[in-house]
Amino acid sequence: MVSEITHELKLHKIGIYEHATEEEKQTLDDLQVDSFIKYYKSYQHSVNDPEGFWAQIAETFTWRKKWDKIVEYDWETPKFEWFKGAKLNITENCLDRHLDKRGDDLAIIWEPNDPNEANRTFTYRELHAEVSKFSNVLKNNGVEKGDRVCVYMPMVPELAIAVLACARIGAVHSVVFAGFSSVALSTRINDAECKVILTTDGVYRGSKAVDLKGIVDEALESTPSIETSIVLNRINANITMKAGRDIWWHEELAKVSDICPAEEMDAEDMLFILYTSGSTGKPKGMVHTCAGYMIHTAYSFKNVFQYKHGDVYFCTADIGWITGHSYIVYGPLAAGATTLMFEGIPSYPDYGRFWEIVEKHQVNQFYTAPTAIRALAAQPNELIDKHDISSIKVLGTVGEPINEEAWHWYDEKIGKQKSPIVDTWWQTETGGIMISPLAGVTPTKPTFATRPLPGIQPCLVNENGEELNTNPAEGRLCVKYPWPSMARTIYGDHNRYKETYFTAFSGKYFTGDGSFRDLEGNYRITGRVDDVVIVSGHNLGTAPIENVINEHSNVVESAIVGYPHDIKGNALYAYVIVYETPENDDFLRHEINDLIARTIGPIAKLDKIQFVPGLPKTRSGKIMRRILRKIAENETSNLGDISTLLNPDVVQAIMDGSLVK
Ligand code: PRX
Repeated sequence: MVSEITHELKLHKIGIYEHATEEEKQTLDDLQVDSFIKYYKSYQHSVNDPEGFWAQIAETFTWRKKWDKIVEYDWETPKFEWFKGAKLNITENCLDRHLDKRGDDLAIIWEPNDPNEANRTFTYRELHAEVSKFSNVLKNNGVEKGDRVCVYMPMVPELAIAVLACARIGAVHSVVFAGFSSVALSTRINDAECKVILTTDGVYRGSKAVDLKGIVDEALESTPSIETSIVLNRINANITMKAGRDIWWHEELAKVSDICPAEEMDAEDMLFILYTSGSTGKPKGMVHTCAGYMIHTAYSFKNVFQYKHGDVYFCTADIGWITGHSYIVYGPLAAGATTLMFEGIPSYPDYGRFWEIVEKHQVNQFYTAPTAIRALAAQPNELIDKHDISSIKVLGTVGEPINEEAWHWYDEKIGKQKSPIVDTWWQTETGGIMISPLAGVTPTKPTFATRPLPGIQPCLVNENGEELNTNPAEGRLCVKYPWPSMARTIYGDHNRYKETYFTAFSGKYFTGDGSFRDLEGNYRITGRVDDVVIVSGHNLGTAPIENVINEHSNVVESAIVGYPHDIKGNALYAYVIVYETPENDDFLRHEINDLIARTIGPIAKLDKIQFVPGLPKTRSGKIMRRILRKIAENETSNLGDISTLLNPDVVQAIMDGSLVK
């Protein structure tokens, strides 16, 4: 305790921060927030002196040059810079610095789709060598610092290796989830003007093999920036390699050495772009930078999951999403953890697969999404009971609000009421976990994400932008002080970044979520307040899907809303006006869904499509989604005042389902 205090004092000399010497250097273990009193103290420290707080954590990392200033920000521009002037490479922190003490510890355990195929493991030393090799492959193929590399791959170890190799040479990775369609892929490639794409010949998904290369070939027909496509042989598919563009991963690897010094990066250099749906228009390429992202993901990983050296941590997400970036790759590796990657799906060969993996690898921390929890809860108990899952110490959930029933099932059946559930609230934009219990340290409360992490200052505001300072309160969730892992811009569209996050409430970051705060200050996320619907944990903007539907030659206009669904959390309900009543409704429905699957991806398919004579609109022509939502939820007794609508009659017609087929 004494050394902790003197350390704090040394760091904080009235705004001047002296860097720790090698002897004084602490580790993330030393700073672990492992009791409620420490949480309370850290939190107070982080609010009273944010710079001193983050400096202390940053000192535990490896720098080529330490920072001149911890943070500089301006909400208006908006501009946020953390650890200004510092130089580093994130992979030296994820790999090189562990080699002395932890070189032979497992960094990655990989579990294949098929349980009969051998799993693969990588020690930190092996992973370091593999990343260095692939860094050399990228360099050999003309990839330089600042170039954008698209990564469109299934959950194989080479995906993590590729991501780290980009970071090692200072290239910017843009991972696109391998379930997206060729159109979605080419849109993202073109937006970032990627030079190279990394992919595989195919994907195993449960009992199916998917032709990934075919999707890439289609996408690359309209992506002029792509020069090279490096293809990993995963399924031995019979594919065509386009001469002058496509090259084999293994052939390139055979040409290089396993030594590749890391590129020196500025703290604020771009690390990656990751696309997320917006409520309007095209996807937003969120830009994350090197130093701040590294520090917050490692710190939050260590403390939320209370990871201890030797634990095996399993996050079921895909690296195509932010959860995989921050809590499969960067956070765990920066913290020197063993992270488990799973290629397959929860239902293959049966719904016991996760528990089989937990038993096989003695998993200690298990992190998944409410939609998976609900799907698993619907299965027979034998699928759990036949496995010994007693190694589990901590359970995590992310991606959408978890309902009470699912929370209790998770707690009882999986956690055996001894494993705290960390309900982690955060976003692609926030880079790391913002509000969550720290396992076993801060109290949990079903369906509540509970308290902010040290360093994070959330608040609730009403529609007029006034902060709500008493409890309980319900309002829009904002963050009123910057944090290191926040996205710095939307790639190529800073104005949209400003408009989306910093304009609604001045001097604050607006999350797009609504939230309730109880008497004790615990936050519960109530859901999106914009036109984004979260389906099976995936963020789907309604506008981009409506745009696709409207492209169908028989569609005049459409509107999508979310409605509650037992497993997916929300499902999509589309109201569609057609030019000509179709002869076969189902055929048209099929065509519309097919168009969506091809243009966006199967995850955006509609669960219900109703053909309607019109859409309820305000006098200014805005679609009244509130009414459509109520109809979709079957809550038609309380539609509110509809008399001011431009076309009130249409509401009854929709409810009757009259027309309108
Ligand atoms: O609405 C919130 C919901 O997911 C949104 C962010 O989605 P995405 O950027 O795809 O990132 C998901 C993984 C971090 C948020 O605005 N959300 C995320 N976690 C939770 C949540 N809603 C309630 N509880 C959570 N734990």
